[in-house]
Amino acid sequence: MTTHPSDHIDAMLHESRVIPASDTFAAQARVTRETYDAMYRQSIDDPDTFWADVAGELDWMAPWTQVLDWQEPHAKWFVGAQTNIAYNALDRNVARGLGTKRAIVWEGEDGEVRTYTYSELLTEVKKAANALLGLGVQAGDRVTLYLPMIPEAAISMLACARIGAAHSVVFGGFSVSALSDRINDAQSKVLITADGGLRRGNLVPLKANADAAAQNAPGLEHIVVVNRGGSNPPMQAGRDVWWHDVVGAASDAHEALAVDSEHPLFILYTSGSTGKPKGVLHTTGGYMVGTYLTTRTVFDLRDDDLYWCTADVGWVTGHSYIVYGPLLNGATVLMYEGAPNQPDWGRFWDIVQKHGVTILYTAPTAIRAIMRQGDEYPNRYDLSSLRLLGSVGEPINPEAWMWYYRVIGGERCPVVDTWWQTETGSIMLTTLPGAYPSKPGSAGLPMFGVDAAIMTREGEELGPDDGGLLVIKRPWPSMLRTVYGDDARYQKAYWGEIPHVYFAGDGARRDGDGYYTVMGRVDDVLNVSGHRLGTMEIESALVAHPSVSEAAVVGKPDDVKGECVVAFVTPQGGQTVDPAALRAHVSKEIGALARPDAIIIADALPKTRSGKIMRRFLRQIAAGRTIEGDTSTLEDPAVLERLAATEPV
Ligand code: WT7
Repeated sequence: MTTHPSDHIDAMLHESRVIPASDTFAAQARVTRETYDAMYRQSIDDPDTFWADVAGELDWMAPWTQVLDWQEPHAKWFVGAQTNIAYNALDRNVARGLGTKRAIVWEGEDGEVRTYTYSELLTEVKKAANALLGLGVQAGDRVTLYLPMIPEAAISMLACARIGAAHSVVFGGFSVSALSDRINDAQSKVLITADGGLRRGNLVPLKANADAAAQNAPGLEHIVVVNRGGSNPPMQAGRDVWWHDVVGAASDAHEALAVDSEHPLFILYTSGSTGKPKGVLHTTGGYMVGTYLTTRTVFDLRDDDLYWCTADVGWVTGHSYIVYGPLLNGATVLMYEGAPNQPDWGRFWDIVQKHGVTILYTAPTAIRAIMRQGDEYPNRYDLSSLRLLGSVGEPINPEAWMWYYRVIGGERCPVVDTWWQTETGSIMLTTLPGAYPSKPGSAGLPMFGVDAAIMTREGEELGPDDGGLLVIKRPWPSMLRTVYGDDARYQKAYWGEIPHVYFAGDGARRDGDGYYTVMGRVDDVLNVSGHRLGTMEIESALVAHPSVSEAAVVGKPDDVKGECVVAFVTPQGGQTVDPAALRAHVSKEIGALARPDAIIIADALPKTRSGKIMRRFLRQIAAGRTIEGDTSTLEDPAVLERLAATEPV
């Protein structure tokens, strides 16, 4: 394992600003300092009571006999209980009088607006549930979703949950082969897609990709197609059905299936440092309780909030903080289909003003991209409805934090920087506004039940201000339960790296006030625009191209994307590498998000005598830094100079 701090870490380490929530915010905050301290203490000293109390606010069809059964590294939460998360998100809210409250306000990239009340959403979900049952989907099955950001994405997820089928959402930016790999790994018989989704005015051809993926997914029986773009794609008789036909014709009578608390809720594929993407498996009860509690407390959620998370449902942020967490709390969720710069860079602020958004949760990469365009875009709009801002997905540099706070939040809205992962299911570290002041660049304090620490690789706990590895010392309700189909990988990657603790893969430090500053990945995982990519995956895609012999991929600090992809490749004997063809090839294998920003074509890569590629040096070369460290183990140290002198293409 190697550590590769990016350049802005220096800025973070020297950041000393402390910004309290405004008096107005603090005076009415849901969680005050006293509440946070008492709740956190109880969650650590008496977790069973703490979690039982939170879970007790939701509906269960059968009670648990035990809160936690921990057989390291396997956890069962709310043992023996039965529930249904879609029931809790919809039926429960309708039953408590929220039927006419808006659940989803959707805005298409083309400006179309659609609204669903809780009752309307419940009806749609019931119909979709019946449609899936009609296509032969049963409890325990997996259903793959490859959809744009349209209400049908949330409806499909909830419909799966309602009948006890696990959904596996594949981000619409992933390629044909990434899609077929995920369909096959999950053994899904049904795929839900759309003819396309609008992105920068173009229709992304999702159905065409689905057709191509189906060629390599022999187990797939049906493709359900939402008509989003009116593009009239070819439909294969017997296999393909229109959403509006099957859901339109389905009955709106359906009772949610009571499932075991540990019944699989979803699989979400994410990149690791080795091998193919991992199917992170989340189950029902613990995930429900974790997303429910964190949404309410972290975002200080109120009945009249209009909550907007700009993530895509293809990522875990969309699962936990567009669909499940907010709907479990009976919130009104804004969902936006398209790009932040369509028709121009004022789009986010136009949406905030038009709908009166009160809570905005977005990613540092979006903040930095918008910040670059200057203050005139946000300044054109009335942003006074906003009262809380959130950040997620990667470290936020203090400069972007301050801009977000000042220009978007008018120095009125607290900024919550939230650290968590696909695997953690819900927010793990953040500074609750109103309880403790924020420190720009630092995610802050642990959430309830999160027993975090900084350790060495050997498992020695480090004190304040020492940089080390971020670990979690005990299970929490919304943690992943396994890697789908590969429990050995689960055990090794998460609980086997450092004995008896969950290893997050991030480097971090904790200051004297207990605030955690997360520096970034210490494994071979890149974070490009908040999207997680494994260097190995990109390398495999590169070497699969006939012109490439060897490839090594590293990340390079980038002002907007956080990190960008740099590929070092050696040509296959006698071949020339065409950079455009290689980029197109990576797009085809994984998706455009993995396309190398820079390609360095070389005759050799820096290797040890035993043949191991020394990526540490490649990171230095990619960043244009002078080469530091012991080069004497290299078989041919002169390779480094040649690489450093090569212009990227
Ligand atoms: C990785 C997880 C959390 C949902 C979106 C990403 C990085 C995430 C922060 C933050 C510093 C962060 C970490 C983590 N990360 N949030 N607030 N500060 N780093 O989920 O794709 O599973 O990626 O994102 O490196 O390990 P993911």
